[in-house]
Amino acid sequence: MNEYLNRGIKEIITEFPEIDGILNDYEISCGPCSVGTCLLKDIVTIHRLTKDQEQELMARIAKAIHPGKDIKIPEIEKRTEVKPKEFRYAPPIKKLVDEHVLIKRWIGLIPQVVDYCDLKTEEGRQLILDGVDLIRSYADKFHHAKEEDILFKYFDENSDIIKVMYEDHTRARGYVKAVLDALDKGDETAISENLMAYRELLTEHIKKEDEILYPWMDNNLSTIQVGKLYSQFTKADKEIGFSPEKYERFIINLEEKFKQKEK
Ligand SMILES: [Fe+2]
Ligand SMILES: [Fe+2]
Repeated sequence: MNEYLNRGIKEIITEFPEIDGILNDYEISCGPCSVGTCLLKDIVTIHRLTKDQEQELMARIAKAIHPGKDIKIPEIEKRTEVKPKEFRYAPPIKKLVDEHVLIKRWIGLIPQVVDYCDLKTEEGRQLILDGVDLIRSYADKFHHAKEEDILFKYFDENSDIIKVMYEDHTRARGYVKAVLDALDKGDETAISENLMAYRELLTEHIKKEDEILYPWMDNNLSTIQVGKLYSQFTKADKEIGFSPEKYERFIINLEEKFKQKEK
């Protein structure tokens, strides 16, 4: 069983497909991941399972790999005992989690934006431009830049989990570019498809960061690093050159507008 701890999870799932279902029972979804070369031992550590959950999960995986055999369950070394779903982030990480809230409010509005959007009107076109501005300025320059240029540098950027995050950011930028191209052509269908694809991607991306990546990073940062990170974030925010509050006002107005329409 020990040899499997150091094998890529996708490779293990290909050989033993039922393991994908077992992992899903612990809200670990490796199937849709585009990289998927994380090692089995990292999967267990990164997802912050309790000791009991880890033992139970490993027992089920061992049974799937060696059916009918009594296998000794290996211990994953260097783990911190955690309570699942109880995330207490250090201040700089909490800042990123808080920034996700506005992005989540925006992606929550996308279905209504898509329904409402009428490119024949100036108002409809402006709504798409304003949404794209929020994504490019707030989500990308203000938020993703702090992740890519500062936070991720504290870790091995070649690790699979960080590569997945970079890949998500790149795909998101691709969807936004496609929205603008479609706006130029007046193609409402393509705008709608790309905004909805962005919504789906970012929903999963933020969940992965809030529940998996950030807690894992938080656990691995020293107190000195946390302090340094906080001052780097503060400096980056000061240098951004625009007021993030502007985007909060945009969301509040849009939420209000759609609420009025529902009445
Ligand atoms: Fe991110
Ligand atoms: Fe993020």
